[in-house]
Amino acid sequence: MTTHLMNTYLPLPVAFARGEGAWLWDEDGKRYLDAISGLGVCSLGHAHPQLAEVIADQATKLLHSGNLVRIPWQEQLADRLAAVTGLDKAFLCNSGTEAIECALKVTRIIGHRKGLHLPGVIVMEQSFHGRTMAALSATGSRKAQAGFEPLVGGFVRAPFGNIDAIATIARRNQDIAAVLVEPIQGEAGIRVPPPGYLARLRDICDEFGWLLIFDEIQSGLCRTGKWYAHQHEDVVPDMITTAKALANGLPVGACVARGPAADAFVPGQHGSTFGGNPLVSRTACTVLDIMRTEDIAGHAERIGNGMLEQFRQRLATYPAVRDVRGRGLMIGIELDREVSRLKQSALERGVLLNVTQERVIRLLPPLIIDPAQAEEIVDVVCALISEFD
Ligand SMILES: Cc1ncc(COP(=O)(O)O)c(C=O)c1O
Repeated sequence: MTTHLMNTYLPLPVAFARGEGAWLWDEDGKRYLDAISGLGVCSLGHAHPQLAEVIADQATKLLHSGNLVRIPWQEQLADRLAAVTGLDKAFLCNSGTEAIECALKVTRIIGHRKGLHLPGVIVMEQSFHGRTMAALSATGSRKAQAGFEPLVGGFVRAPFGNIDAIATIARRNQDIAAVLVEPIQGEAGIRVPPPGYLARLRDICDEFGWLLIFDEIQSGLCRTGKWYAHQHEDVVPDMITTAKALANGLPVGACVARGPAADAFVPGQHGSTFGGNPLVSRTACTVLDIMRTEDIAGHAERIGNGMLEQFRQRLATYPAVRDVRGRGLMIGIELDREVSRLKQSALERGVLLNVTQERVIRLLPPLIIDPAQAEEIVDVVCALISEFD
């Protein structure tokens, strides 16, 4: 291992040389089933032929021109994002955390216009929004924040899923400008809020003139059976942040907005050197087209809900299992103990999975997995859990 990388990750002792669909091969040629897709990124699987062709073709034409000139592929991507979100305008960046920064900067501008000195944002306990300073400050994890104080101010925290807590803050705090929430919390261990929660948030935001921002970076782009997870409820936010699967592995993120939030910036107020360059924008357009024409959302919903059902049935009698939850192919299995070592045991059995919050097995497989692959993941996970008791 090199000593020239900063000490930020604890990688598993494996490196992959290539992939195809939901399969990965390590440097020794051993095959693995991918049940995490690079943390919810490679939703269309590895080495997708159509994406490979588009990327190669664009590389022979133009990778980058900079935002000093028009970028037609970027305009096309913004059109597609408006269509799938139902919102108006997009800012394109390179990661999830930058999409969050954009949403927070829009909130500051709109809050200042309303005369707020420090426009407040209600954020949720156990949330995760990224690693840059404002996104980190919005995140509900002391562990992630420790050592980086002083944090950016203005964030007011509420328990996730608790609408009364939001109503209480509304009565007491006159400085709030927005609510930022993941429709399904990812890093927190795939936590699904009670039905009606997002719609009630919308009502409160309307009543107090706040912006409603959904962080769909992990839950979005067909993973739960809709383009975006909040679309399971009849709710329209003011802004959505999206990234991860948008270009199936090329770095791209977007903050998509409607109404005043869509028109908050004037030229020069925000930007990004690489943001929305021709290569990532064309790739993201192709990803969205494939997702639409192949009904990837419907497939994810069918396969994922089948897996959830299987897990619920097969794990029902295991005392170590606290909860099986999720939606579509965003699945969490909470155990009564620390299970981080399961990542290594699963790897030995040829499945790549993730554990979050130390006790929750997190599955975010590529959305194109077939029923046999889904069954293999269920079999391996159930076998590993059965060894606990
Ligand atoms: C819900 C959510 N928001 C934001 C982020 C940050 O995204 P990125 O790592 O691309 O900056 C993540 C990453 O896991 C996430 O899951």
